[in-house]
Amino acid sequence: MFNYKYLLQVFCFGIILVVQKTMQNTTLCTFPPGFKFGTATSAYQIEGAWNVSGKTPSIWDFATHNNFESIIDRSNGDIACDSYNQIDVDIANLQLLNVSFYRFSISWTRLLPNAGNNFINPDGVRYYNEVIDKLIAHNIDPMVTIFHWDLPQSLQDLGGWTNKLTIEYYLQFARTCFSLFGDRVKTWITFNEISMYCVSAYDKKSLAPFASLSGIGTYLCAHYMLLAHGRAYRIYKKDFIHQKGIVGLSIDSPWYFPATNTANDKMAAMRAIITGFDWLAHPIFSQTGDYPLFMRKRIDYNSKQQGFKESRLPRFTTKEKAILQGSADFLGLNHYTSKLASMPMSEKASEMTSYEIDRSFDISFDPKWPKSARNHFKVVPQGLRKLLLYIRDTYNNPIVYITENGYAGDHSEYIDDHDRVSYTNLYLTEILKAIVIDKCNVTKYTSWSFMDNFEWHDGYTLRFGMFHVDFNDPKRKRTPKKSMYAYRNIIRFGTLPRCLSFEKSI
Ligand SMILES: *[C@@H]1O[C@H](CO)[C@@H](O)[C@H](O)[C@H]1NC(C)=O
Ligand SMILES: *[C@@H]1O[C@H](CO)[C@@H](O)[C@H](O)[C@H]1NC(C)=O
Ligand SMILES: *[C@@H]1O[C@H](CO)[C@@H](O)[C@H](O)[C@H]1NC(C)=O
Repeated sequence: MFNYKYLLQVFCFGIILVVQKTMQNTTLCTFPPGFKFGTATSAYQIEGAWNVSGKTPSIWDFATHNNFESIIDRSNGDIACDSYNQIDVDIANLQLLNVSFYRFSISWTRLLPNAGNNFINPDGVRYYNEVIDKLIAHNIDPMVTIFHWDLPQSLQDLGGWTNKLTIEYYLQFARTCFSLFGDRVKTWITFNEISMYCVSAYDKKSLAPFASLSGIGTYLCAHYMLLAHGRAYRIYKKDFIHQKGIVGLSIDSPWYFPATNTANDKMAAMRAIITGFDWLAHPIFSQTGDYPLFMRKRIDYNSKQQGFKESRLPRFTTKEKAILQGSADFLGLNHYTSKLASMPMSEKASEMTSYEIDRSFDISFDPKWPKSARNHFKVVPQGLRKLLLYIRDTYNNPIVYITENGYAGDHSEYIDDHDRVSYTNLYLTEILKAIVIDKCNVTKYTSWSFMDNFEWHDGYTLRFGMFHVDFNDPKRKRTPKKSMYAYRNIIRFGTLPRCLSFEKSI
């Protein structure tokens, strides 16, 4: 006997399935309304014009001229992308990319050649006014990083970020930026990658100021930068609140997967996150404030064992804790890759610097992870979703802007950058899953980078740009790469390509 009712039920159920499937596809392809896409650079990496119109040297000018063997190709940012002279070309290219915001940084020594604000360099004011005005005229919101590593060399001569006085100079700089540009700049990033700066400068000696005192300088540097961040935030909220902008900072972190399922490796991975990401996020975003208790206890203990009278990890006063707690309107996240963490091999312990002893884990990589031109940057998109989940659960789902994410090509890369296209699609897919499925509060995405530029100690050997830059051409000709067109389509339609195939991997 033919059962119509049954057939109808099956039919309806089928339709529901199809509709559900389609809806899921759409939500997992399409970014929520209001989600914004942008791209990023920093002053030293693109501007050039290192010695014009009153600008004084930063630690990067100094390092590349005096310590040039620490730069892989012995290059420097004297000219870089020549962006100082090419505002109009840059703006036209940003328009071509169709981004809704552009993240760039202000060169401290171009604006304040004496480090302090006793003399404001008119040419610095002119240059940044021109950039900001032209961005706004083309409907691109400026997102400004105040400190992106190019500390005045004069302050480095006084100890740089290990000297508490640098905080006061930084606050003069930040206040000057707010008052000169805050009528038009509504999103401020106080610091770029405190951990990368302090660890690379004081522990690994791989970035300027190429200093020493591992495990001491490292923590002092980050401590004073954190305090400077907190106080800059409070200054904005007290004296510049009428400008109606928001202030945050960009924290860099990979994700760490345990190398195996053993308890030891799981703990190693947790240690890596706590002593890397939470070190800087916890004082600002946690309910309790201060450094993570685990880190406090561990470094106090290690310091004692090593014969130090006081902990190598400085302490915040009660008042300082309060200044820092809640001192960000958003969490900027710079994320490129993931690593495997495992229990360290005991025989290696003696070779470790103090900071590494404090963290205590070995790093490795899953051979299945695709490579990039930077050795330790593998393509591991699922790690970003894990990190976003961790942030959601640890810090009560704060607003997160991805302020950097991108793929390293090598110096020979030209415009066929398929790997960057695929990297961007894969990472954006994981961000979309984090938003739609995990309800993470991610509202902006920033690709690193707008164009190839001076990649710090890798010089011009790595390319991160969506525009190719010909560094042999005096004009530094820019040419759009495949990734520029691919990213532009994502921005235009707010939608990822090839959505259906992504379904399977959820
Ligand atoms: C600026 O630096 C360039 C090298 O990049 C040099 O040729 C030029 O003479 C310098 N100009 C001044 C005013 O020092
Ligand atoms: C992006 O493209 C759209 C459509 O072509 C255009 O209306 C809009 O002005 C562009 N935005 C920017 C910032 O160029
Ligand atoms: C996102 O963050 C804002 C500001 O902190 C908060 O009001 C909102 O509830 C958060 N959204 C979610 C889904 O938690």
